[in-house]
Amino acid sequence: MTPEPDAVRAAVEEALNGFLPSRSPIAQPLVDAMRYAASGGGKRLRPMLACASCMAFGGRLEDALAPACAVELIHAYSLVHDDLPAMDDDALRRGRPSCHVAYGEAVAILVGDALQTLAFEVLAGAPGGSAVNRAAAVGLLAQAAGWQGMVGGQAFDMASEGQRLGLAELKALHAAKTGALLSASVRLGALFANATEEQMATAKAFGDLIGLGFQIIDDVLDVTSDTATLGKPAGSDQQADKSTFVTLMSLEKARREAQALAREASDLLQQAGLQDTLLADLGRQAVDRVN
Ligand code: IPE
Ligand code: IPE
Ligand code: MG
Ligand code: MG
Ligand code: MG
Repeated sequence: MTPEPDAVRAAVEEALNGFLPSRSPIAQPLVDAMRYAASGGGKRLRPMLACASCMAFGGRLEDALAPACAVELIHAYSLVHDDLPAMDDDALRRGRPSCHVAYGEAVAILVGDALQTLAFEVLAGAPGGSAVNRAAAVGLLAQAAGWQGMVGGQAFDMASEGQRLGLAELKALHAAKTGALLSASVRLGALFANATEEQMATAKAFGDLIGLGFQIIDDVLDVTSDTATLGKPAGSDQQADKSTFVTLMSLEKARREAQALAREASDLLQQAGLQDTLLADLGRQAVDRVN
């Protein structure tokens, strides 16, 4: 029987809690700050996607937990660095002071470094899957997180402040800074279900579509929502003169674009016979959300 979403979420939280360090004989503030940054709310969309994908492609929840947590650790690191004064300079995250505000900038930089390496430690030691799958998973996550993916997208995002990008460039930016990791979540889950090549292609196509849709809605919410609901400063993009979907097109058009991507993603799952899955539900939640 497929576990309920709440049970999946609880399993993710428990696994994450188990992977995060509590005590260090040499750097207690660092491990305290790692826990602070990786817990304390968050939608946990990426690890939920990894688990849901694994189950949709016939795998077991317990085999997906390590890769799921690895992606969430990368995500948590990316948020810590994203909020730094040298980047978006945001003082609030998940309704609490950002990591650098709570622990200082040097610790926050190191928290990002440590969460990133912990992610790969967790993935390399994942109990589910074969050695071949684990090696493939490490490569896949590194590619999604690194210069061609999230980090590359963040560099593009910073370089684009004060500029107006065209649609193709903006899509490339969003696909890299956000889409790559969301897509990797879906693909990692499939990998740990021993998915076929065709299933892996479906996972990637689905993940790419909802990844882009997710960031378009992030841009929309930055304008339409408020700080209390978001748990991070509303209006941050305008403040930093970012190039976003909302600066490129109307709010309504941006919303429609995200909805169209979600529909396309949902059609893909339907064609694969996976329309009644948690994965399909999460695809819709990626764009139908308030925070
Ligand atoms: C925020 O991601 C950063 C983006 C890539 C837009 P989330 O909206 O998933 O943040 P949490 O994990 O729920 O806090
Ligand atoms: C950040 O995008 C994406 C990351 C890789 C962290 P944003 O800068 O728009 O994310 P938020 O709005 O601060 O969460
Ligand atoms: Mg940013
Ligand atoms: Mg930001
Ligand atoms: Mg944003």
